[in-house]
Amino acid sequence: MSPLHHLKGRRVFVTGHTGFKGSWLVMMLNRLGAHVTGYSLAPPTQPSLFAVADVRELVTAHYQADVRNADQVAAAVHAAQPEIVFHLAAQSLVHRSYRQPLNTFSTNVIGTASVLDAVRSLAGPCAVIVATSDKCYEPHDSGKPHDECATLGGRDPYSASKGAAELVTAAYRQSFFPPDRLTDHGVQVATVRAGNVIGGGDWAEDRIIHDIVRHLTAARPVPVRNPTAIRPWQHVLEPLQGYLTLADSMLAEPGAQWSTGWNFGPTPGNDLSVRDLTELFIDSWGSGTWVHTHDRRAPRETPVLRLSIDKALGKLAWRPRLSAHEAIRRTATWFRQFFDKPGSARLLCVADMVDYAAFASASEATNP
Ligand SMILES: NC(=O)c1ccc[n+]([C@@H]2O[C@H](COP(=O)([O-])OP(=O)(O)OC[C@H]3O[C@@H](n4cnc5c(N)ncnc54)[C@H](O)[C@@H]3O)[C@@H](O)[C@H]2O)c1
Repeated sequence: MSPLHHLKGRRVFVTGHTGFKGSWLVMMLNRLGAHVTGYSLAPPTQPSLFAVADVRELVTAHYQADVRNADQVAAAVHAAQPEIVFHLAAQSLVHRSYRQPLNTFSTNVIGTASVLDAVRSLAGPCAVIVATSDKCYEPHDSGKPHDECATLGGRDPYSASKGAAELVTAAYRQSFFPPDRLTDHGVQVATVRAGNVIGGGDWAEDRIIHDIVRHLTAARPVPVRNPTAIRPWQHVLEPLQGYLTLADSMLAEPGAQWSTGWNFGPTPGNDLSVRDLTELFIDSWGSGTWVHTHDRRAPRETPVLRLSIDKALGKLAWRPRLSAHEAIRRTATWFRQFFDKPGSARLLCVADMVDYAAFASASEATNP
């Protein structure tokens, strides 16, 4: 596994640091010795990983502000003078995007433009990583994995907003940070497209893990809407390790090769259905049942979504380390232990990060 040496001591600007992935990312950056400025609205859930793991105390500066406010974003970026920007702030939920399409488009599209615009005024070089999603691609029913050249699209407001965020990023890259003139402007801009992630501390409404945990803790059967839908489940540490490896590569060897889109998904063949995920989670939890529910009002969901990760495997010192089974087992264990001992969230995250690093080193030794 890449040791990520180049992140130590760096000034890092993270948007969306009060969210699920943002909170994990700040904890990882903190362990790597980076200095993080966070910029987000308040945590989007109650409870939140940000609060229960006390992530606030790990950031050097904390802005609770809207990413659509270009002046405020610019002022915060100017004050931080980051060497790395991770833009994760978003309206991140597909179902909510049907209820709040304008909020979704403005946050995910204008918000991305505000962050990229702020980077234009930086004095020094900067590596920018914009998190979009596997849903930025036009869905198809062939079951064929989407690679980074697949057509952008999206049939619901969330997915389309992420496709649009890709286009906005590409336009800023071509107009203001052309990769072939990197020595003139010093800014590298990549987008990262991950699949559904799971892990301890995800309390987002409508997400399957929250649903499962909510019903298991109330000793009720877990309602499952689309048991046969296949998703590329991965533990949250996997794509975040990918984002960090990409940032590390951009700092270690600046060049045009990084300023593109990157997929971070599970190893092919590791996809599981929603039914498998629910049953494995219940097994690890120790008790519980599930029922197939039909909700005619539920928005249409894409039946199969697969990502090709060949590019990241070939060009970055990154690969998925945890099977879907292991990711689900870890997630169930995290929540079980958290509910047994609510003050333990940070320790549970640290334990997951330490185990992940050890697991990666062991698999590196046996399968370099
Ligand atoms: N969780 C997943 O399965 C998944 C999969 C693929 C891509 N992503 C993407 O990764 C990123 C992080 O996802 P997450 O699961 O942590 O999301 P999340 O909903 O848990 O967190 C979203 C973050 O964005 C902030 N935010 C929302 N609107 C804002 C605004 N107008 N101004 C400033 N901050 C705002 C929230 O406060 C929060 O910090 C998002 O861009 C999401 O679309 C997530």
